[in-house]
Amino acid sequence: MVGFLSLMLPLLPALGIAGEVKNCHPRCHCEVESYGLFDSFSLTKVDCRGVGSGTAPVPIPLDTSHLDLSGNSISSITDSMLSGPGYTTLVSLDLSNNHIAQVSAKAFSKLRYLETLDLSHNDLENLSGGSFSGLRLTDVDLSDNMFQDFNLDLFNTRGQETPISVDLSNNLLSTVSRNPQGHALHINSLILAGNKFRVVPELTGVPLQYLNLDGNPIRSIEEGAFDEMKDLIYLSLSSLPELTSIQPGSFRGLRNLQILDLSHNTRLAGLSPDVFDGLTSLQELNLSNSIAGPFPVAAFDHMPTLKSVILGPNMRCWKTHKQGQFHRQIGQAKANDILTCDVEGLIS
Ligand SMILES: *[C@@H]1O[C@H](CO)[C@@H](O)[C@H](O)[C@H]1NC(C)=O
Ligand SMILES: *[C@@H]1O[C@H](CO)[C@@H](O)[C@H](O)[C@H]1NC(C)=O
Repeated sequence: MVGFLSLMLPLLPALGIAGEVKNCHPRCHCEVESYGLFDSFSLTKVDCRGVGSGTAPVPIPLDTSHLDLSGNSISSITDSMLSGPGYTTLVSLDLSNNHIAQVSAKAFSKLRYLETLDLSHNDLENLSGGSFSGLRLTDVDLSDNMFQDFNLDLFNTRGQETPISVDLSNNLLSTVSRNPQGHALHINSLILAGNKFRVVPELTGVPLQYLNLDGNPIRSIEEGAFDEMKDLIYLSLSSLPELTSIQPGSFRGLRNLQILDLSHNTRLAGLSPDVFDGLTSLQELNLSNSIAGPFPVAAFDHMPTLKSVILGPNMRCWKTHKQGQFHRQIGQAKANDILTCDVEGLIS
């Protein structure tokens, strides 16, 4: 009979849900979704959003893969809170919109399969060293906390002493240097928007592809600030309320960067073309609401693959490739790049 039913509904998520899931906290909503032919794969999702303070540690079903504990007025994460049965299989954990100010050093240590961690909208100033040790985290959201400038130079394991008591920077580093299992650090998406960084944090040794620093009180971006982030594909530096200058060569290490968002930096005094030096893969540049005058055409020399630059609402310039005449001598068609803008005078 069971086999017959699964033949009838092989691709639909199993619907029996809450009542059938064992060990579901009465105030949470637990759901098992089955996938694949004959439901060979299943995912248990547990939604404990806004169930109220004092609920943690929440017992969750065995084999839970996604857990949402957001909006629960949780103020600290202790070593035991995330260690019960069911937690070891978590792939994603949402702790956003709580009041978390303290995370004990081993709080996440049992979450060996965790890939996505959302700690956004909390009261964190720091994380202790080793918090992410041995995890296979790829996506970390720490936005809208109170992290300040930190020195991730310590990611560089060569000949560095790892301090015992450290802030977030050192914490991330220690995943590299002190990880007893010798796992490499996997974090490739890091959201640090809405914190208190005053300088671009050094993130040496983290294979980041996506970095978001929007809304931090960064005053100036210095030459070589991103030298260690050569894997970055997307960099967002939008709405930095204090940003007045970007030094030439700031982005020179970013040879894989495809999208750079510098929009809404209203205090930026001006941008020399050399600022864009080294951005040899850049395709999209967003300067909306960030520069007063026209965009210097010489900047395109630094960004040979740039396809479009946004300079404001309905103010975009884009490059198209027009095949020119066939050159017999060269043996190939000569391509001409044509720049078109929504409005005249955007480029000089
Ligand atoms: C981390 O911040 C908390 C307050 O949020 C503070 O009590 C604690 O001393 C700080 N720890 C470190 C290592 O700086
Ligand atoms: C700026 O443009 C980029 C690339 O087109 C886009 O991904 C981003 O969302 C834009 N930023 C804002 C604040 O609209």
